[in-house]
Amino acid sequence: MQVIETIAAFREVRSRHARLGLVPTMGYLHEGHLSLVRRAKQECGVVAVSIFVNPTKFGPNEDFARYPRDFERDLALLKKEQTDLIFAPSGAEIYPPGHATAVEVGAVTYVLEGAVRPGHFRGVATVVCKLFNIVQPTRAYFGQKDAQQTVVISKMARDLDMPVEVVVCPTVREPDGLAMSSRNIYLATDERRAATVLYRALTAAEEHFKGGERSGEALRTVMRDTLAHEAKARIDYVSVADRVSLDELDAVPQQGALASMAVRIGKTRLIDNLVLEN
Ligand code: PAJ
Repeated sequence: MQVIETIAAFREVRSRHARLGLVPTMGYLHEGHLSLVRRAKQECGVVAVSIFVNPTKFGPNEDFARYPRDFERDLALLKKEQTDLIFAPSGAEIYPPGHATAVEVGAVTYVLEGAVRPGHFRGVATVVCKLFNIVQPTRAYFGQKDAQQTVVISKMARDLDMPVEVVVCPTVREPDGLAMSSRNIYLATDERRAATVLYRALTAAEEHFKGGERSGEALRTVMRDTLAHEAKARIDYVSVADRVSLDELDAVPQQGALASMAVRIGKTRLIDNLVLEN
């Protein structure tokens, strides 16, 4: 396993391989990240994992400074997965003084997470575009956990004719259903227990969907009602949206819908989603 910190050094190593899978991360790895690495390893042979806590992805009042980091532990976990290359650039390597260009993906970035976190997806799209240009992966792996991120990146790759296949992998959950996230460590014991309400609300909507409910508003109400039973949960949004445009749906069409939510438990903001499909 080789740890590479500069763009020039990465390009040099990259030129030795025909195919390469990329897993972009911000580090502090858990089973969710590792599931992407395993899938990439199966499909691509040579796998690069990038570890970069992207400052432009965080809003001014968000948790960039206190975002959890443990580089040595990440390296040990990635070594076990037989990761070939780690790309771990500094902030200045990716954003040297004078850097000004950004990638703007449009309407799908203004709703849901984008509405609550202005500039967030511009930061994500820009850094992922840069990573694609540096790493030049044949395939890049992303988690369904961040559903809107996968929509934004897939659209960016398509709109800008990027020669990369975007692969979306299933959300890895704790045994009680809570989606794994680096931010789960912020939860106190009682909050950790309360956090299971997100998945319960999503599965309640799924049950109604399977029972034939196709009204977007009825499905959103099922989720809101479940969340209302948890005193520690504060809803940021609850959504039943088109899987590609992310427009809120009055009625769920044949191709299904994305049910998603952002909920605050104490000071921690959690997101989760399920695809509702026939
Ligand atoms: P990060 O939050 O570190 O996540 C890295 C990748 O792991 C993302 O594709 C995310 O969706 C996936 N992931 C996280 N939790 C998961 C889970 N429980 N199950 C499956 N996959 C999971 O997302 C980012 O970093 C950044 O925005 C990044 C893409 C690196 C760009 O800065």
